[in-house]
Amino acid sequence: MTALDLRHHGDAELAPGLVDLAVNVRAGAPPPWLLDRLAGIDLAAYPDPRHAREAVARRHGREPAEVLLTAGAAEAFVLLARAFTPAGATVVHPQFTEPEAALRAAGHRVRRVLLQPPFRLEAADVPDDADLVVVGNPTNPTSVLHRAGELAGLVRPGRLLVVDEAFADCVPAETDSLAATTDLAGLMVIRSLTKTWGIAGLRAGYVLATPDVIARLANAQPLWAVSAPALECCIACSDLPAVAEAASWAVQLGRARDELCRRLAAIPSVEVVPDPAASFVLLHVTGHPGIRNALRDKGFAVRRGETFPGLDSQWIRVAVRDNEVTDAFVTALKEVLR
Ligand SMILES: Cc1ncc(COP(=O)(O)O)c(C=O)c1O
Repeated sequence: MTALDLRHHGDAELAPGLVDLAVNVRAGAPPPWLLDRLAGIDLAAYPDPRHAREAVARRHGREPAEVLLTAGAAEAFVLLARAFTPAGATVVHPQFTEPEAALRAAGHRVRRVLLQPPFRLEAADVPDDADLVVVGNPTNPTSVLHRAGELAGLVRPGRLLVVDEAFADCVPAETDSLAATTDLAGLMVIRSLTKTWGIAGLRAGYVLATPDVIARLANAQPLWAVSAPALECCIACSDLPAVAEAASWAVQLGRARDELCRRLAAIPSVEVVPDPAASFVLLHVTGHPGIRNALRDKGFAVRRGETFPGLDSQWIRVAVRDNEVTDAFVTALKEVLR
């Protein structure tokens, strides 16, 4: 297996002066009401996660014992790798590479299931003896949303099914989310608050699973791992008005994404992975392995494809921004391809 830089992420593509289409968080700052909440935090006291855990549990119709708050979804992957000893860890690619990196760093062997375009998963793709399966939904970088029923079909006795839902709130009504599902044995859902709320620097996420899985993960977690401001975000972003705000943002995102796809569809040699569901789209630019650098020369930072297993440098991931940025990006892309 070729050695890819699994620890390369979109933020490494940025440089001063470039338009950022590489990082997949919502552009701009957190909303003012969230910043106001953060201003009132007592930073002198050690963080107490109880209220935040209850708030997250309520938001997903679950019990607090089914919730573990983490320093972003990224911490959850490390806890998973430390707390479990899978013999057949399997990661469905192309997807975010940190779960595989964390599993390998903890000494586990990892098998890859490499989906081919259009990157839709079928239960038969995953080997029967996989006792830990990691899949993203919607998936970074393909933006593909797998059907909840398809994912449920991956459940097996003795298997931990880890669904990374870091981008689930990009999907109106969060269709196909398994966050509230409690009747699938071995299901573990990982969520992130960092993207939708523009708080990647704060580190806030959580795991939803059965109490025994949560207890094992919690045992592996450092004391006070989640800061008081991150706990406040967990409470604030689980309130009904925040959930409604995220839902209406998902609808606007969908419109902006449709416009980006419509514009891209008109460019020969560019193919967009169909039916994108997240805050980015994956493009194949046939015959242009230097496309990322050419766009960089035009002032646009996009996420390279080649550090994702299964992709090469003709693939780029592009964040959905407003129509003005889309217009400038599409113009630059056409110039590069001319
Ligand atoms: C699919 C996916 N999962 C998880 C993460 C990590 O999220 P967090 O910022 O909550 O650690 C990312 C970050 O880019 C991601 O793309």
